[in-house]
Amino acid sequence: MEGSDVYGNMGFHQQTGRRALVDRRRIQAPAKTAVDDEEEVDYANIEDSVEPEEKTPNSKKPLAEEPKPQAATKSNACGAKSIVVLYILLIGSSAVWMALFSRAFAKYSEIAAVLQDLRTTQKILQDNDSEIAAVLQDLRTTQKILQDNDSQLSALVTSFGNDMSHLISKVCIKTCPCEWISFNEACYYFSKERADWHKAKESCNSKNASLAVISSDQELDYLKSRIGSTHHWLGLSDSETEGSWKWLDGRLVETRFWNSGEPNNAANNEDCGKVTNSKLNDVPCNSEEHWICEMKL
Ligand code: BGC
Ligand code: CA
Repeated sequence: MEGSDVYGNMGFHQQTGRRALVDRRRIQAPAKTAVDDEEEVDYANIEDSVEPEEKTPNSKKPLAEEPKPQAATKSNACGAKSIVVLYILLIGSSAVWMALFSRAFAKYSEIAAVLQDLRTTQKILQDNDSEIAAVLQDLRTTQKILQDNDSQLSALVTSFGNDMSHLISKVCIKTCPCEWISFNEACYYFSKERADWHKAKESCNSKNASLAVISSDQELDYLKSRIGSTHHWLGLSDSETEGSWKWLDGRLVETRFWNSGEPNNAANNEDCGKVTNSKLNDVPCNSEEHWICEMKL
């Protein structure tokens, strides 16, 4: 049958056209009897059953005015094609939207990953910044301590230097020069060479000292113990006034310091005094003797 599918069934539009044709014929036909109502309408074979009637000359409307099954079939085919095209467009657009959504989702995932990396990097930098700040604070504290220690150390060094200078100055005053001997707040130099009384006196003066003068028995005994049997000039003379013996510091020479029988001004030429292993003796000033210098501390 024309217009049927592979299984012999009529299409939807073909069935609709035939039902419309049957309905029109019912309207145009005489009133049906009860028997007619009981008759079943065979829509499947309606075409074969009504065709002879449609061909009768008494029909009011020609068949040409009835809906043409062939034209409906073509219209239905166009509608089906449109639906197919719409489905294709819908599927295509859906595929495009899915592709765009997938691409956007991938981009979003990449951006989210980058943002996560940036947050991680920011956290690391913040942590490092905190650590660097802590280290800097420690360094500043250490620097402050070192500066304080440096100031204290500088003060200590200055104080120590002052103390040392004070001690050295005292030690220098209290200490006799090399080759000088200390005794009772004084330093004594015993010459190794010999010279007359005046040269000996000048030699002591050149050493910021003078020929030794005796102030006590202990001093005389100490000097005698240091010279042994040799003779040494001391700082006494009667050059200004014969018989008036004076020490170089202006004091008169004590009588007890003279050796027995001295001063005798032998040959009327003895104006300078010296010390021997006994006591004092007056001798000529041009004699060549050792000498003793004295320096007060
Ligand atoms: C005398 C001294 C004197 C000396 C001169 C001695 O023998 O006792 O008084 O000064 O000779 O060299
Ligand atoms: Ca004498």
